[in-house]
Amino acid sequence: MEIIIQPTPETASGIAVRIIARLLREKPNAVLGLATGSTPLRLYRELVRQKLDWSRVKTFNLDEYVGLAPAHPQSSHSFMWKNFFQNINIARKNIHVPDGEAKNIPVFCLRYEKQIRAAGGIDLQVLGIGTDGHIGFNEPTSSLASRTRIKTLTARTRRDNAGFFGSEKKMPHHVITMGIGTIMGARQILLLAFGRNKANAVAQAVEGPITSMNPASGLQMHPVAKMVLDKAAAAKLKRADYYRWVYENKPDWQKA
Ligand code: GLP
Repeated sequence: MEIIIQPTPETASGIAVRIIARLLREKPNAVLGLATGSTPLRLYRELVRQKLDWSRVKTFNLDEYVGLAPAHPQSSHSFMWKNFFQNINIARKNIHVPDGEAKNIPVFCLRYEKQIRAAGGIDLQVLGIGTDGHIGFNEPTSSLASRTRIKTLTARTRRDNAGFFGSEKKMPHHVITMGIGTIMGARQILLLAFGRNKANAVAQAVEGPITSMNPASGLQMHPVAKMVLDKAAAAKLKRADYYRWVYENKPDWQKA
């Protein structure tokens, strides 16, 4: 894993923007995996400002709440349209977000996996991380080989995300999420984590053992995984000085 520690969420998001802008320049028909949550908001805002060409880009979102209509204000659909898609020149047919209203969820999940394969696989997957180390909605004990499927949220994740819904009672218990195996299939991973409340999850994912108890630790097995952190999210890393030195002393050709 490449660990990039930045002073603030703004500078960290700036690096993520450069990585994605470079990918789009090199491959205008790139396939991106996208995440919701508060963490990638600055990234999306800045990508919009850059006026890149999204006309040939395809996107696949990580997850959606089961039972929420696309128009529900807390759905991943709404989140992505409001914060990103409506502001870029992406073609509607190139956007994929799991269908929380799918009648037959297992069939839908198989089709989602098939669509990702048919698009040529994901070139770069954007990720946040939950306070318990979840990626997408793969809660602790998720199989590290899992594919897109239904998952049940933990009490902790429901507490963490309740704010978006007004109260925990209004939050769905079930979600459709890409699996950890699906995420591992992306050619490049770009995980963002900001704030003190992510520091434990990040430290365990980077420096702890690979364990389904911290799903993000599975990314240790990914050959091209970057974690871009602000100072607070990096606070519990034992080898932070080493990661900083590595990043600051990269050869020019390797810089993002
Ligand atoms: C949510 C999402 C994840 C996200 C994580 C952190 O549950 N399913 O994709 O990365 O929790 O959210 P936030 O960025 O708001 O801290």
